[in-house]
Amino acid sequence: MHKTEHLTIEKPDVQDSGIQRAAAILRDGGLVAIPTETVYGLAADALNPQAVGRIFEAKGRPSDNPLIVHIAHLEHITNVARTVPESADKLAKAFWPGPLTMVLPKASGIPDKTSGGLDTVGIRLPSHPVARAVIEAAGVPLAAPSANLSGSPSPTTASHVLADMEGRIEAVLDGGPCGVGVESTVLSLAGKRPLLLRPGGVTPEQIESVIGPIDIHPAVYHALEQGQKAESPGMKYKHYAPHTKVMVVKGDGQSFARYVNSQIGKVGALCFDEDLPHLHVPAVSYGHMGQPDTQAQGLFDALRRLDGLDADVVYARYPDVDGMGLAVYNRLMRAAAFEVIEL
Ligand code: TXA
Ligand code: MG
Repeated sequence: MHKTEHLTIEKPDVQDSGIQRAAAILRDGGLVAIPTETVYGLAADALNPQAVGRIFEAKGRPSDNPLIVHIAHLEHITNVARTVPESADKLAKAFWPGPLTMVLPKASGIPDKTSGGLDTVGIRLPSHPVARAVIEAAGVPLAAPSANLSGSPSPTTASHVLADMEGRIEAVLDGGPCGVGVESTVLSLAGKRPLLLRPGGVTPEQIESVIGPIDIHPAVYHALEQGQKAESPGMKYKHYAPHTKVMVVKGDGQSFARYVNSQIGKVGALCFDEDLPHLHVPAVSYGHMGQPDTQAQGLFDALRRLDGLDADVVYARYPDVDGMGLAVYNRLMRAAAFEVIEL
């Protein structure tokens, strides 16, 4: 494989030369990492099984882990889903374009490769103007998982993408840092009751305000137990992990600082901005205390920087868990393999 092209954008518009170049590569069966409002996605033509197969190779992703199909117009949902229940219609009107993925019965035109062999498919209409312009210019729905190596933190900048994907993909389209910072909410509407499979940019409270009560899969809060069913294949796999061991510490700022400062050995901290002045060990902040939106924006970059701390263990400050915080909590707990120390 050749060097990965770094494409820049003048204007988020179908006519833009970077977007035209990305679309041409995608139509040819190539791979292009594209910015979305959540994280960068590793895109290929969702209808081309060879192209989709290359996504799995580039990421080192298990082939049973299905991909999300991205569309640019609400009307195109019927090209991807076999049936669209009323709840999906309501949610699309409320939250699309935006960070919500709905799992629906799959239309026959979607290859098994794309859906990981399932008869359902995850569908999302992103709000990022560059993502929408690329889908539009390519003229096909785009399959796109997060553009990281399988198991690593999702990329929120083009340089994160290149750190993992240089030489493995044809191009990255640089749209600057992603606004939300964690991936979309994944909600299954293919079963008897709506089931939240992954918390993300749209909160459970927001969803319930439109369609009423939903179930939340236990894997959102806890490690999947042996024999427990993974409704979403992604739940089975280790995720978001830096190479350094991470442990989450539950307690207020003062006890967190006291605990971390008293540890012996090569120790680091993953904390809030407000904690930094009180810590005597190498530390990385992932946002402001009490502000889950900033924590979501900063988390993946902070996780990537932990390996530079030269620590054997990194102690992470417990996130706020309401609203967007549930998505942050879920990512951080998985990065820590659900290891929590209660102070
Ligand atoms: O924000 C996002 O969703 C980003 C951007 C690029 O759109 N994409 C993303 O894709 O996070 P990925 O592949 O990294 O995560 C998708 C998750 C996986 O855990 C996968 O198992 C689950 O959604 N998923 C996809 N299709 C599914 C389906 N048909 N049934 C159950 N789970 C599904
Ligand atoms: Mg991912």
